[in-house]
Amino acid sequence: MSISTFTGQHILSVNDFDRDAIQQVFDVADKMRPYAMREKRTTVLDGAILGNLFFEPSTRTRVSFGTAFNLLGGEVRETTGMSSSALAKGESLYDTARVLSGYSDIIAMRHPAPGSVAEFAEGSRVPVLNGGDGPNEHPTQALLDLYTIQKECEYHGGGIDGLHIAMIGDLKFGRTVHSLSKLLSKFKNLRFTLVSPNELRMPDSVISVLEDAGHQIRITEQLEGSLDADICYQTRIQEERFPSPEEANKYRGRFRLNTEIYTKHFQSKTVIMHPLPRDSRAEANELDNDLNMHPNLAIFRQTDNGVLVRMALFALTLGVEDLVSRYEKDVVWYTNKHQETM
Ligand code: CP
Repeated sequence: MSISTFTGQHILSVNDFDRDAIQQVFDVADKMRPYAMREKRTTVLDGAILGNLFFEPSTRTRVSFGTAFNLLGGEVRETTGMSSSALAKGESLYDTARVLSGYSDIIAMRHPAPGSVAEFAEGSRVPVLNGGDGPNEHPTQALLDLYTIQKECEYHGGGIDGLHIAMIGDLKFGRTVHSLSKLLSKFKNLRFTLVSPNELRMPDSVISVLEDAGHQIRITEQLEGSLDADICYQTRIQEERFPSPEEANKYRGRFRLNTEIYTKHFQSKTVIMHPLPRDSRAEANELDNDLNMHPNLAIFRQTDNGVLVRMALFALTLGVEDLVSRYEKDVVWYTNKHQETM
C-alpha cells in the first residue's frame, strides 16, 4: 500500500509509505522551513484542534507535535500519563478514541503497548498519528531520521541509495531502528552493519524485510576495525522495556561513542545520529559530550527536522499542504531563530 493521497489517513506504520509517499512528505517538509524559522507565519489551521495524547514519557515527539501544530496556526489539547486519563479506570482504547476524536480534528498518540495506536485508530473519527507504540514502531521519527539522512547526503553531494549504515546498541527494543530500517528498505543497494549484544539483536522480522529487498547485512556483537559507514546511528538501551533496571544494567555502557572511539572506527565524514534521548549518566554515556561540537553530529539537526516533518504530516493529513502560503502573515516580534547547521 502507498499513501498517495494523505488526506484523512491515519499514519500508523512506515509500511504504508512507498518512495513516492516519502518524497511527498519531504517536499512538503522543505516548504515548512520558513515557518519553522519564523521568517513568516501561517494560520492555515486556525481553529483546528490537535489531541496530543502521550501515555508514555516523551520530550521531543510530544513537544514537536504540539509545536508543529501551533506553527500551522492550530490549537493543542494535551493528555500526558496513563494515571491522569480514564484508561486508569479501565476505559478501553476504543472508547477513549470515540470520545476524544469528538474533541479534536486530528490526534497524535504514544502508548507503551505494541499495536495500541492502531487499536485506538479503529475507534477514532479523525486521523491518528502514531508517536510510538511500545517497541513496535515510531513512524514519524523514522521519517525525520530519513529526512535528515537525505539532507546530510545532499550536503555531501550524494543520495541515500548505496549508503552503508551502522546501527548500534539496543536493536531489539529500539523502535526507531525498526521503523527506520523498514523505510530504508525501499532504497537500493544499502549495506547495514548491525552492532548489538546477541540478546538485543535486530528482530528477524526486520532483518527479513531488509534481506528480501536485497540489502547486505552484517551482524556483529562489537565495533571492530575501521567501518566505512556513511551513517552511524547510535541508540539507547531501552530500560523501560526490560523486566527490571538490573536487567538493563547488564548492557548499559556496552556501546559508547566518544571522539576517540569515533575516530578509531569511523571515517572523517561519517554522520553521527541518535533518535535521543541519549543516556548521559556516567554508567551509560552512550554518546559523549566531547562530540557535541563535531560538525558530523546530526542529533540536533534531527530534532529540528522533526518539526518540519510533523508540520508536513499535519498539512498532508488535513489536506492543506497547498494552502499554507495563502494564509501567510508577517512575523512582527523579535526573532533570532536559526536552524542547527552542518
Ligand atoms: N526520539 C523520541 O521519541 O524522543 P522522545 O521520547 O523524547 O519523544
